[in-house]
Amino acid sequence: MNDPKIIIALDFPNATSALALAERLQPTLCRLKVGKELFTATGPAFLEQLMRRGFEIFLDLKFHDIPNTTAQACKVAASLGVWMINVHALGGRKMLDAAREAIARTEQQPKLVAVTLLTSMAQADLAEIGINATPADMVLRLATLARNSGLDGVVCSAQEVALLRKHCGAEFCLVTPGIRPAHASLDDQSRVMTPQAALQAGSSYLVIGRPITQAVDPLQALLDINKEIGVLQ
Ligand code: C5P
Repeated sequence: MNDPKIIIALDFPNATSALALAERLQPTLCRLKVGKELFTATGPAFLEQLMRRGFEIFLDLKFHDIPNTTAQACKVAASLGVWMINVHALGGRKMLDAAREAIARTEQQPKLVAVTLLTSMAQADLAEIGINATPADMVLRLATLARNSGLDGVVCSAQEVALLRKHCGAEFCLVTPGIRPAHASLDDQSRVMTPQAALQAGSSYLVIGRPITQAVDPLQALLDINKEIGVLQ
């Protein structure tokens, strides 16, 4: 089965620029991530356009609400035919259980993953909202919660992958942004890992944005990364 490891973040404000990029890529080589910005601008019809071109979609809307509202949103997201959706693990066990149950009853059954802790949250930010645990402890706690609720995996930093792989088992899906090929610009990311190192540490899928979307030749950038991680074209 074709299971591309790279998920390209379509961080664009409109359909025209997102489609221009998608048309330069190939669905056998990558999946696409549509987040809040692009989805708010373009809606479900645009997902259809991408899927018609053969791409599988990670709809990155990070739902976080009371259990019933989250479950209903997950159900509708699943009905769009996307490959993966996500929620915030900080919504708690009841919300995660409700989301899982809602997905299980759908025909499409997309993968359901949880965001553990946003990587923008450092120790001081946690303290400010009354959480005294370290970010690493929180990530492990939230990933365990997600796994116990039967979610397929979590979105986490590549730096956390080795720990989570050890605690959550071989089947748990670990989706990691913050990936930079060895010679790429860091942009605004700080704790980055190369594609190869992230996969070796135990990542299941790599979310990569600007190193591909802003490349002069995005397809070549994707081919180069696939080559680096040993995927035959
Ligand atoms: O361009 P770049 O490769 O930095 O894009 C990374 C993508 O992953 C963006 O869509 C960003 O919002 C997302 N992301 C992240 N760090 C997280 C969670 C998501 O960079 N902790």
